[in-house]
Amino acid sequence: MEKEVLLNDGVKIPAVGLGVFLIPNDGSTYKAVSEALKAGYRHIDTAAAYFNEEEVGRAIKDSGLKREEIFVTSKLWVQDFGYEHAKWGIEESLRKLDLGYIDLYLLHQPYGDVLGAWKALEEYKEKGLLRSIGVSNMTPKIYKKYVPEFRIKPSVNQVECNPTFLQKELRSAMEKDNVRIEAWYPLGHGDNNLLDNETVIRLSEKYGKNVGQIILRFEVQEGFIVLPKSTNPERIKGNIDIFDFELTEDEMKEMEKLDTGKGTHDPDAPGVGESLLSRYKIHNKW
Ligand SMILES: NC(=O)c1ccc[n+]([C@@H]2O[C@H](COP(=O)([O-])OP(=O)(O)OC[C@H]3O[C@@H](n4cnc5c(N)ncnc54)[C@H](OP(=O)(O)O)[C@@H]3O)[C@@H](O)[C@H]2O)c1
Repeated sequence: MEKEVLLNDGVKIPAVGLGVFLIPNDGSTYKAVSEALKAGYRHIDTAAAYFNEEEVGRAIKDSGLKREEIFVTSKLWVQDFGYEHAKWGIEESLRKLDLGYIDLYLLHQPYGDVLGAWKALEEYKEKGLLRSIGVSNMTPKIYKKYVPEFRIKPSVNQVECNPTFLQKELRSAMEKDNVRIEAWYPLGHGDNNLLDNETVIRLSEKYGKNVGQIILRFEVQEGFIVLPKSTNPERIKGNIDIFDFELTEDEMKEMEKLDTGKGTHDPDAPGVGESLLSRYKIHNKW
């Protein structure tokens, strides 16, 4: 099993990345990222709206690893959508991370002036400051509305995804463009219904792996890029230690039966965009 996934623009991304959503910028992000790099992670997933890009950048610079060995993702918040604002937002992420370039940059939420913001991402990709660009939280309906209008296709769509929500319809909508799924909530955000599932527990006993490792291994075998979050050093280590065993075809099918076709968040629900735009301001620039 490959530890890296080839994206549709020729860029390679490590299949497992550390997610740093909800890790505070009080030194905790620096610590988690440093632990992860020591444990062998080479992929970190942050966002402007996580308020911890600076700590991510600092931990990477202090790691002693070469810049090109590490893959960093950040995301543009909706407040900075529209062409001009997006250019400012991208510059802010570049400044805060301070790593010269960003490996993957996403439109965090698909609301507001998506086309204007995407045009700015395309330009920064062409300048080499963003190696790859992508979207997030696009349902099949939102994907079909915007992506045909894009000059450059996204390389990923980062969406809620785990064994209980396998995004079948979205995957078939994105297949022709070869857009990869990045799974957020890969561990169901710690949901016990997933972690205590009897199939997951049985496989965990069979392979001598913990339940988190079984779930992440299933997802990577399914073709997803996964972004488990943890601040616990043992779990950080364990969540990337999934490349020394393989689930059989029958076990994959058994895990696929956990799919309910639904997630916890519905980006198509009325008012989601307006509510995000009005509730979450990450700076006072506009
Ligand atoms: N694009 C978007 O809109 C979006 C939305 C949500 C998330 N994301 C991305 O996806 C990442 C992951 O999402 P998430 O952090 O919400 O959910 P998650 O990774 O599914 O779950 C994290 C939770 O599971 C616990 N955990 C970690 N490893 C475990 C293991 N091996 N066994 C049992 N529990 C474990 C963590 O606690 P401990 O820290 O105590 O280990 C934490 O409470 C985020 O950090 C972010 O990068 C993106």
